[in-house]
Amino acid sequence: MKFIPVLLCTPLFFSIMSGSAVAEPPIKLATPPASLEKWYKPANKRQVWLHTMFKLRRQMQAIEEYSQQKDPTQLKKWIKQLDKDYNKIADMVPEWEKEIKPRLIPELEMFAKKGDYLRINRTLKMISRTCKDCHQAYQPVVTAIYRSPGYDNIKIKKADGSSHSFNDNMKALSKSLNRTLIALKDGQKKTAIEARHQLAEQLDNLGNSCNNCHKDDPYPRERILGKATKQKLASLEENIKQWQVKPSQELMGTLAVKVCARCHNTHRITSDLRNALLPPK
Ligand code: HEC
Ligand code: HEC
Ligand code: HEC
Repeated sequence: MKFIPVLLCTPLFFSIMSGSAVAEPPIKLATPPASLEKWYKPANKRQVWLHTMFKLRRQMQAIEEYSQQKDPTQLKKWIKQLDKDYNKIADMVPEWEKEIKPRLIPELEMFAKKGDYLRINRTLKMISRTCKDCHQAYQPVVTAIYRSPGYDNIKIKKADGSSHSFNDNMKALSKSLNRTLIALKDGQKKTAIEARHQLAEQLDNLGNSCNNCHKDDPYPRERILGKATKQKLASLEENIKQWQVKPSQELMGTLAVKVCARCHNTHRITSDLRNALLPPK
């Protein structure tokens, strides 16, 4: 197994590592074999690996249920399908051949023929063990690498017509947010007004990029950058103009939580994790 060291520092990392009793960073995570990439978008048209997994779970359930019902005809049918899909694991990712036990499937078939339902269940448990062992080692990492979106290719259009990267937009947001807070604290009204204006403009520009992923669904943008946020930004402008420092600071805090943190909780956590797992660019 190949390991890469990853510095872990948020609660998410600990929750995905549940089961392994490592308390302190850096924790080592197993990297999946490169051949897995072929079975995911964009290399593949579909998420083939994941859909094979869904089939396996359904097949295991069907076999368990028909074994309880003692139905040999259905059992035979589902065991055949499991045979096909379970073996696909090693066909798709040859490096993982040793993670599965294909010999258990003919045994299932034999017990089904004999009507030995007790042994069918025991064999199912042994197969399940192989599922669990691989999941424990690889599942969260694979989900983070192949099923969380990347932001590198997104271009954010600015008001002056030029554009910059998603990350540059984030850095700019952070600058104007903190510039506003510094100016509020230091009694610099003009700077506070300008910085708030920039913040609002940068958020507007960011809002035009949501459809890169959310397509024609208006709801995600509305949820984080919609009417409620626009009202808070307008109210902030009023408060700064009248030099109401405390209410302005409070509004800044609300915006940081309801705009920045709310979006980060769904988007940035997975993005940071994905970037930490992928080889450096
Ligand atoms: C789309 C929802 C979204 C919103 C709204 C948002 N962010 Fe982000 N932010 C992200 C994502 C995603 C990343 C990680 C980007 C990446 O991996 O390239 C990020 C990264 C960052 C970073 C790290 C940049 C770096 O140097 O790597 C900072 C700082 C940041 N955001 C600040 C803010 C601030 C401040 C606000 C609010 C004013 C905000 N963000 C609003 C999604 C968002
Ligand atoms: C050799 C490794 C390996 C084996 C063996 C394996 N899996 Fe998986 N499985 C994975 C990986 C990797 C993922 C994560 C895929 C993703 O998130 O896109 C996964 C994900 C899944 C999921 C999706 C979980 C979810 O809700 O997102 C299911 C269901 C599943 N596996 C079922 C099974 C069953 C049932 C077996 C045994 C019969 C099995 N797997 C055997 C590697 C394996
Ligand atoms: C690189 C892709 C990407 C971009 C760009 C992106 N999102 Fe998302 N967003 C996702 C994914 C993936 C999810 C989780 C699955 C889902 O709900 O589609 C999500 C979920 C959400 C959710 C929670 C689920 C929902 O539909 O209510 C909100 C809210 C949201 N995004 C807002 C935004 C906003 C606002 C922007 C632009 C500032 C944005 N997103 C930009 C990928 C993206």
